[in-house]
Amino acid sequence: CATPQPSAEWDAWFNQKVEEFKAQNANKTQMPNYTIPVVVHVIHSGQAVGTGANISAAQVQDQINILNADFAGTGLNATNVPSVWSGLKANVNITFCLATKTPSGTTMAEPGIDRRHYNTIPGLAAPGSGYTSGTIDATIKPNTIWDPTRYCNMWVCQLGGGLLGYATFPAATGLTGLSAPFGSATTDGVVMGHNYFGSIGSAAGSAPYNRGRTTTHEVGHWLGLRHINGDANCGNDFCNDTPTQDQLHFGCFTFPYHTTQCTGNTPNGEMFMNFMDYTDDACMYMFTTHQRARMQ
Ligand code: ARG
Ligand code: ZN
Repeated sequence: CATPQPSAEWDAWFNQKVEEFKAQNANKTQMPNYTIPVVVHVIHSGQAVGTGANISAAQVQDQINILNADFAGTGLNATNVPSVWSGLKANVNITFCLATKTPSGTTMAEPGIDRRHYNTIPGLAAPGSGYTSGTIDATIKPNTIWDPTRYCNMWVCQLGGGLLGYATFPAATGLTGLSAPFGSATTDGVVMGHNYFGSIGSAAGSAPYNRGRTTTHEVGHWLGLRHINGDANCGNDFCNDTPTQDQLHFGCFTFPYHTTQCTGNTPNGEMFMNFMDYTDDACMYMFTTHQRARMQ
């Protein structure tokens, strides 16, 4: 439409503004509230609703409720944040709602739920023991995605390979520490195994991953967060209020944990209860204020 391409100078100026915004907002307690409409693409094999991968609307709503509580800093066990870090626990001021309308404006029969039998997706076979991220990205996503500038796309399916979920990083944010591949018009969004989505129905028996925190973790990535250890031994997650951490942790720990693994985090140790670690669902329960600034 003849809009001129921004110049390199404009890009540099804009990126500078992003850095200024982050610097100014890292420690703010008041942030704008955003509400993001969600569509959950439920990929099933013709099971009755509420059976297996064809999860119920109640299970979807349960996950949205968990996600909203976690982003508000009020989720399961959030009051267990060690007192030395309680001032860092964020209300991210982002909430998620089930979309009420399709991209073309039709009112949805089931808010926020797009049920798709695999045989309606061109070239897609039955999941067997679970779809791979390769099949999801190449075949499921491009055939089902809704405009990612208007919706948060979530795909829920039988997921293979021991994966609980995965996400794309947000494109064009100017945030430090993010690298390609970014979400695109055909890939942007988060994917979760149906049995890790929410805490009821097909997820009820998936302990220790039965508290809906896989979605919280993946939406954290989708809004620009890195793993708490920066995916390296004592690496950089580009947040200055998360202690350095030697590795991602599986399980559940007692504070203080790993107080000498990385320099500079004695005596409090590592923030294993951060949503961007790999701990058990019941044992992760906080985002920090700098993580909030990145997501905002
Ligand atoms: N992408 C990670 C995985 O599949 C997600 C880990 C989420 N952790 C959790 N406790 N829910 O392993
Ligand atoms: Zn992750």
